[in-house]
Amino acid sequence: MKVAGSVRVPGDKSITHRVLLLAALTRGTSHIGGALTSLDARSTARVLRQLGAELSPLRPGAPVTVRGKGKFRRPAEPLFCGNSGTTTRLLLGLLSAHRFSATLTGDRSLRRRPMRRVTVPLAAMGARFTERNGDGLPLTVRGDLLRPLTYQMPVSSAQIKSAILLAGMVGEVDVTLREPHGRSRDHTERLLQSFGYGVAEKDGWIHFTPGGRLEPFDIQVPGDPSSAAFLVGAATLAEAGELRIAGVGVNPTRTGFLDVLSRMGADIKVENQSDRFGEPVGDLIVRPAPLRGTEVTAGEIPGLIDEIPLLAVLASRAAGTTTFRQVGELRVKESDRLGLIAENLRAVGADAAVVRDDLVVEGSGREPRGKVRTAADHRLAMAFAVLGTVPGARLRIDDMACAAVSFPGFPATLRGIDARGRR
Ligand code: S3P
Repeated sequence: MKVAGSVRVPGDKSITHRVLLLAALTRGTSHIGGALTSLDARSTARVLRQLGAELSPLRPGAPVTVRGKGKFRRPAEPLFCGNSGTTTRLLLGLLSAHRFSATLTGDRSLRRRPMRRVTVPLAAMGARFTERNGDGLPLTVRGDLLRPLTYQMPVSSAQIKSAILLAGMVGEVDVTLREPHGRSRDHTERLLQSFGYGVAEKDGWIHFTPGGRLEPFDIQVPGDPSSAAFLVGAATLAEAGELRIAGVGVNPTRTGFLDVLSRMGADIKVENQSDRFGEPVGDLIVRPAPLRGTEVTAGEIPGLIDEIPLLAVLASRAAGTTTFRQVGELRVKESDRLGLIAENLRAVGADAAVVRDDLVVEGSGREPRGKVRTAADHRLAMAFAVLGTVPGARLRIDDMACAAVSFPGFPATLRGIDARGRR
């Protein structure tokens, strides 16, 4: 394809979840512009209504109004978190300091995702959990008076980190945390600081101190770099043209994929950088470029965890081998992403293998052809749709509708950046 023009992507998923959760806990009315309105964001809005907050409907283009009551009230029914791990895990943190019981559940994919990674540290702070399905959901939490926690996290994960920090915020206790390798996204830390809470980093440890105060706020959510990544990938594989993706969040804990792509030879520039509500935002300008393989180190993984399906697909078009080190975490995402990336790349004629916890992809110029099994995983569907744009590709993706989990309108946006398709 030939790319042209300027596009925007939907609001950042991680930031949308966080600001909806925090706004629902303030006493008063907040306005959230540019919020993501995808299925995952709707899951957060739905459970917050069950917990007593009033939220206007999530509609693209319209700001979301959130009226919080200062704290959550006991929900009458189980909280259905849909497909959203972030909703579930961050809420478990907040509910750990609310003195009532609540049961959380979700769709088939979410019910099998591990929750002990958050319940173990939250229980050490004083919350009580009743498991109903081993490590998965449904799960009942009963909050209590919390104790301070010092905790070495077993995996680098913004969801674990945020659950503990948010428990510290509501429970008003000190928390000290460390991630094993690499830094996961720091949106929670930035937001907490903006409300006057202490968040400091020293020698790899994050120290949280209470003392801040949640007040109603107005905010504009930047475009999601994880959604922009798919368009960056399509523009890189294109035969000609230039694409601008405007107003994208470029928080350095999210842009690891840009560093890796630049190393692979991609032509990406960031322009018009500014700071918006404590988060850096900019335009991404992408031109097509030939790619070469690279090694993505274990320390880089937390900064590009959601972009690995896309990077793997791009690696299958690069000259040489690309190795992603220590990506076992992908087995417990919305699907067994690690297994499915390799399986699907092979199914469409590329070379890919999982070697222990590493993913190894060999590049080739072969025309990708075959069937793609997404297991309803939005990022797999979008990554392979990008591969489907290369000349001669003939891919049948079993479920494109699942893209709406994070990127409503993705198929139309992908078609829209193709200048030839528009004629
Ligand atoms: C997220 C953290 C990441 C990421 C997910 C969103 C967040 O999960 O994969 O899409 O908003 O905190 P982990 O913390 O489990 O790595």
